[in-house]
Amino acid sequence: MSIHAPEYVRRIAPYQAGKPISELAREYGLDEASIVKLASNENPLGMPESARAAMLAAMRELGRYPDANGFELKAAIARRYRVPQEWITLGNGSNDILELAAHALLQPGQSAVYSEHSFAVYSLATQEVGARAIEVPARELGHDFDAMAAAIAPDTRLVFVANPNNPTGTFAPAPTIERFLDRVPADVVVVLDEAYNEYLPPELRFDSSQWLRGRPNLLISRTFSKAYGLAGLRVGFGLAQAELTDLLNRVRQPFNVNSAAQAAAAAALVDQEFLERSYEVNRQGLARLQSAFDAMGLQYVPSFANFVLVRVGDGAAVYESLLRQGVIVRPVAGYGLPQWLRVSVGLPEENEAFLAALAKALGRERGASGR
Ligand SMILES: Cc1ncc(COP(=O)(O)O)c(C=O)c1O
Repeated sequence: MSIHAPEYVRRIAPYQAGKPISELAREYGLDEASIVKLASNENPLGMPESARAAMLAAMRELGRYPDANGFELKAAIARRYRVPQEWITLGNGSNDILELAAHALLQPGQSAVYSEHSFAVYSLATQEVGARAIEVPARELGHDFDAMAAAIAPDTRLVFVANPNNPTGTFAPAPTIERFLDRVPADVVVVLDEAYNEYLPPELRFDSSQWLRGRPNLLISRTFSKAYGLAGLRVGFGLAQAELTDLLNRVRQPFNVNSAAQAAAAAALVDQEFLERSYEVNRQGLARLQSAFDAMGLQYVPSFANFVLVRVGDGAAVYESLLRQGVIVRPVAGYGLPQWLRVSVGLPEENEAFLAALAKALGRERGASGR
């Protein structure tokens, strides 16, 4: 006899994470130090020194539970985004914020709207609570906001928007998002997921937190996992007016963000020098990857984030060939993109190692006779 579990849970396909370096080393007998991982959109600079120091100091207190309210980190976020502390929810990564929204707002018989080729957790969070997914076909691999607004059904309670989007790297400018927000019914919550916001070029940046004032149904989610370099600590946050924040708080685990993560994040948030360096390393790396793809005649989606989606033909075969060469990227067949691979921007030498391995995988290395 099998365990009783809801059908909607049995139907969930587990999240496919980027392959860890240690796993590839074990499976292929490779030296860990020689492996290049460009699979999870992490910051290739690692964590900032300022955050490391703050974390080490916080470790003296690890015998105690964390501050369940995250006072210091919330105070730093409140200053940075000019919002009241009552508008902030801390999350175990921004993944937690996305799930809190689903748990607080969705139930069986209701629906969530999101775009085709958008972040996998939108579908997971929707399925976890037994709600119906309305996946709206993408336009040129980006969100089709007219179609998304039209897809909102009477039972829709939640809309997920990723800007920039993962895995496509597409971006919608402020006026497009604002127009979309104006079209969403006031009782339907929009989660505006800005995990890659810090990688936007200065001329495209806008302060979405200013939109919260007139919009009780907007939830902005941000993360410390990408430009802030703290992916392993698991910390992110949501910004929303007090009523929505209160709802999220009701379904939040009391100690969802550990003390080391809270301390590191508060330090990273104000480390402008690290943030600028991260932006610059990414800008140069992205330009290098995209110009190499141009030179190789490979189609790619011009990216606004810290990764790029490139069309390689047989995505699974090229992924395998890269693995054998010690390079981990992300296959995206699960996103309905079997001909593409997503590669995160690395340090210059990592980008070069990837490009050399890719040329080999495609039979395009210098001196190769084929194709
Ligand atoms: C669009 C998007 N949102 C949210 C996340 C979640 O990241 P984290 O939970 O590390 O904040 C990711 C991670 O890849 C992402 O790509």
